This record gives sequence, C-alpha cells and structure tokens, in this order.
Amino acid sequence: MLNNPSRAQPAAVSMHAPRRRLGGAAALAAAFSLFSLVVVWHELHGPSAHAADEPIAQAHADDADQTPDDVATLTAPGVNGANGANGANGELIRRGEYLARAADCAACHTADKARPFAGGLPISTPFGTIVTPNITPDPDTGIGRWSDADFLRAMHEGIGKSGERLYPAFPYTAYTRVTEQDVLAIRAYLNTLTPIHYTPPANSLKFPFNQRWLMVFWNLFNFTEGRFVPDPKQSAEWNRGAYLVEGLAHCEECHTPRNFMQGLQSGARFSGAVQAGWHAFNITPDKLSGVGEWSDDELIAYLSTGAAPGRANAAGPMGEVVANSTQHLTPVDLRSIVVYLRSLPPVSGGDTRGRHQWGTPADDVTALRGTAITGVNGAQLFVANCASCHSWTGQGVGASAPGAYPSLIHNSTVGATDANNLALVILHGVNRATAHADVMMPAFGGHLDDEQIAAITNYVTRQFGNPQATMSAGQVAKLRTLQ
Ligand code: HEC
Ligand code: HEC
Ligand code: HEC
Repeated sequence: MLNNPSRAQPAAVSMHAPRRRLGGAAALAAAFSLFSLVVVWHELHGPSAHAADEPIAQAHADDADQTPDDVATLTAPGVNGANGANGANGELIRRGEYLARAADCAACHTADKARPFAGGLPISTPFGTIVTPNITPDPDTGIGRWSDADFLRAMHEGIGKSGERLYPAFPYTAYTRVTEQDVLAIRAYLNTLTPIHYTPPANSLKFPFNQRWLMVFWNLFNFTEGRFVPDPKQSAEWNRGAYLVEGLAHCEECHTPRNFMQGLQSGARFSGAVQAGWHAFNITPDKLSGVGEWSDDELIAYLSTGAAPGRANAAGPMGEVVANSTQHLTPVDLRSIVVYLRSLPPVSGGDTRGRHQWGTPADDVTALRGTAITGVNGAQLFVANCASCHSWTGQGVGASAPGAYPSLIHNSTVGATDANNLALVILHGVNRATAHADVMMPAFGGHLDDEQIAAITNYVTRQFGNPQATMSAGQVAKLRTLQ
C-alpha cells in the first residue's frame, strides 16, 4: 500500500463492504425522489448563505494559531521563489505551507513525487475511480486561472470553478471549517509551487455516480457548510485542537464510521472505521476501546514519530498521515490536538481489554520450530520471516529507541479485535520516514501466498495479541485487492 501509487484514500463515497452498496442504491432512490422538492427549495431560497463567517470566530481561531518557530526551515523543494520568500508575503507563504501540511493536501494530490501537487492519484470507490486533479498553478491543467474566490468556494462549499459539485472524496466537509484567512494562506503557498503541465486521467465513475449534481442531495444530508465556531467555555488550547482535528487535519474522514450514504455518523464520532481494509481505530478516550489509557506524551509521540512503544505504531494510511502531516506540527499544536481528543465523549466498542494490553512473549522455541510440520505452519513461518527483526519471543529489538523493531506484544495492531491491519502490514510492510527515524519493514505480499500470510497472522494474534482476531486465506486474498 505504501509503495503503491494507487492506494485508496479516505473517500466519502467509498464503500468497502458490498452490503453497503445497497445502502448507496437506497440513498440514490431517496435522492431522486427528493430532487423536485429540493429544486423548489433552492428556487425559493437561493444559494446557501455563508454561515458562521463571523469575524469573532475567525479571530479566536487565529489567536490560537501558532506559527512554528522553525518555520523558515520548512520551505519545501519545489517552491519557486518568484513571489519572494521574504517579508509579509514570505510569512504568509510559510504559514500556508504549514497549514497545507496540517491539511495533508499532498497525500491525495501527489501521485508521483516528481510531480508534487499535480494530482493523478486514483481513489477507488465501488462506484468507480475518482482521480485527484492538478492543483499546481499551471494555468491550463492546474488551478492557475482560479481566483481566490473560486478557491475559497471549492474549499468551503465543495464547488468547482465552473460551478460543478465536487465529490466528497475531497474532504471539503472538513475544510469548510477552516477560516478564510487560512484558506487564502494555503492558496498563497500553492501559488508558489512550480506549475506542472499535467492532465490527470479522467474519472471512471459508473452512471449515475458520474452525475455530479447528485452531490446536491448528498450535501443536503451529510454536509454543513460553515466555519469553525470557537466554544468560549473551552480553553484556547482546546479550541485550537478542535479547529485542527475537525478542520484542516480531517481526522474524522478515517476515524468516524459512516452512515448508509457514506456521510459521517455524528453519533459515533472518532469511534473507528474501516477504509480500504484498514481499521482506523477508536481514538475516543474510552479506556478499553479507545486511547483513554495512553498518556498525553504517548499520543504526542505517536503523532510526531509514528511510534508509541508499548501502545502502537503507525502503518498504512496513518503512517502516511504522520510522515506527511502530523510530524510537521508544532509541539503546541500537537498538544492542542491531544487536549481536544481527551475531551471527546468516550465510545465503547464493547472490548474487554485494550488493544495494547494483549500478549505474552513466546517461551517455547522448540514449539516454534515445530518438529513435525505438516502443511503451512504459522509458527515456523514466523521464525523464518519475522523473528530476525521482532525476535522469536515477539519482543522486538531496540526497545523504544528511534527506528526500533517493535515488540509485537502490547501493540494495538496485534491486539485489535480484527486482524485486518496486521495482515495488511504483512502484505505491504511499513515505510515511514520522519525526522525521528526512517522505519522500514519489508512487504511480504510478493513472496508469501494468502494461506501463508493467514497462518502467520493467526500465529501472531494467538501468541502475541488478541486470539479472537483470526484471518482466513480468503480474507487475505480480498485484502490484497483493496489498494
Ligand atoms: C483525501 C484526499 C484529498 C485531500 C486530503 C485533499 N484533496 Fe483536494 N481533491 C481531492 C479529490 C478526489 C478531488 C476531486 C473531486 C472531484 O473530482 O469532484 C479534489 C479536488 C480539489 C480541488 C478542485 C480542483 C479542480 O480542478 O476542480 C481543489 C482546489 C483541491 N482539491 C484543493 C485541495 C487542497 C488545497 C487540499 C489541502 C488543504 C486538498 N485538496 C486536500 C482529494 C483530496
Ligand atoms: C487516511 C486515514 C487517516 C487519517 C486522516 C487519520 N488517521 Fe489515525 N489512523 C488511521 C489508521 C488506518 C490507523 C491504524 C494504524 C495502524 O494500525 O498501524 C490509525 C491510528 C491512529 C491512532 C492509534 C490508535 C491505536 O490504538 O493504535 C491514533 C492515536 C490516531 N490514528 C490519531 C489520528 C489523529 C489525531 C488524526 C488527525 C490528525 C488521524 N489519526 C488521522 C487512519 C487515519
Ligand atoms: C527487516 C526487519 C523486519 C522484518 C523481517 C519484519 N518486520 Fe515487522 N516491523 C519492522 C519495522 C521497522 C516496523 C515498524 C516500526 C515502527 O512503526 O516504528 C515493523 C512493524 C511491525 C508491526 C506493527 C505495525 C503497526 O501498525 O503497529 C507488526 C504487527 C509487524 N511488524 C509484524 C511483522 C511480521 C508478522 C513479520 C513477518 C511476516 C515482520 N513484521 C517482519 C521490521 C521488520
């Protein structure tokens, strides 16, 4: 997944389970029947008002806005100095770059590192594929001809330059909360990028999902336009955290489960969801199902390095979030995010033990070596493929040093109630580069078959994690197809 340019990204229209397709069809039927009603409503009321753009809301969000001290060193390669990197404009551009990282625009709009922000990343959904557009300042193939108003409208309302509805695979549902000032700073930064003349391949969505106007209905049920409104009863830190988590950093796009229309379930925020096979875990403060037992420092370490020894490591989409986005956030912003996460209502998934509380070291090497082996043997495969780094006891090598080979005991991926992430980690490996360490676990998808991967997965959960989490060869085969 990490090396594959066609990895799936959070797509609000993505439907990972076939049973959800029925939900999609039902939504569509409902949508069609509501069509005439809504047309009439729109005739009467005109385009939706720009709610909550009150200067006071903006002032509050900006008050808590931290400009990183070391921001001068953040200037990315590919920034052409044409607009000047000094003075007020330079400051605006650097702020925009910081915010673009917090929003992780590059995750979806960079398919090829040689073409930063030029789009072309296919986002697969059961309706077909949406390909991200070029957002470099190229006038013909990018957004060079867009006015600031066009850009604001896209980010806040999900409407493209020609008035077309954008698909919520673009998380405008979260970006709508970002202040106008911050959106314009991002725009100023994007203006300094090297224009790349590149037209990404067209979307290949099936009828009727290629009908953009249908998004009118989706928005009606699943989208509330409007800027972040600070809560005066909360601290500046909490408000900054809420602004980042709900807006720019769009954490809910992966961590909040979706309703049958693929809109976010407002009653179960941050309680975990599965996207393209990956389980983005419950991150509410629930002690058993969420991250309630993590310390503040552990959460900060996880977001800034991808590793919280004894709790979790960040692989797959979260590894990318850490590498592209959260590792670049200032300590003040990271702490604000944690303050906000701590304040969420805990949501229990019914777990009887925390994900990180499972497992004991293997203590019988002869059992692992398996004297008389018949067929595919998980223990033997583990010793042959994994023990060189994670040790045959499962305790890893290097403890909590940067770049250590982590212990598989007390690891959330191994202790989760489903073995999806574990099988995906074995299939695709881990590849996460941060200022802290470059971590690399090889991908085994190429040389182990589905049955072997299922056997290792089952051995690892039984021995080092949650024995209820099992995996069949058929499930591995399915996970392989989810890219
Ligand atoms: C989770 C993936 C994702 C992230 C993150 C993301 N985008 Fe996009 N973006 C998309 C997709 C997909 C589309 C195309 C939607 C469509 O075709 O309707 C899009 C469309 C756009 C458009 C409209 C371009 C056009 O030609 O119509 C703009 C502008 C844009 N994004 C800017 C941004 C900026 C700025 C950021 C960061 C603040 C960002 N995007 C982050 C996926 C993403
Ligand atoms: C692109 C999807 C995506 C986005 C966006 C995302 N996450 Fe995650 N997150 C995941 C996945 C998938 C995992 C599980 C990773 C693993 O098993 O290695 C995860 C794991 C985590 C964990 C560890 C939980 C545990 O018990 O192991 C924390 C904490 C977390 N995310 C916080 C956040 C925060 C805060 C944000 C917003 C700043 C965020 N995530 C945004 C997908 C995402
Ligand atoms: C060459 C060394 C190496 C080998 C061989 C190796 N790993 Fe890893 N493994 C790593 C590294 C490095 C990480 C990432 C550490 C981090 O995230 O900081 C990792 C992470 C993991 C994680 C945690 C992922 C998460 O999201 O929390 C699991 C589980 C895992 N490996 C299982 C295995 C299994 C099973 C095998 C054998 C099929 C294996 N590893 C083989 C080096 C290795």
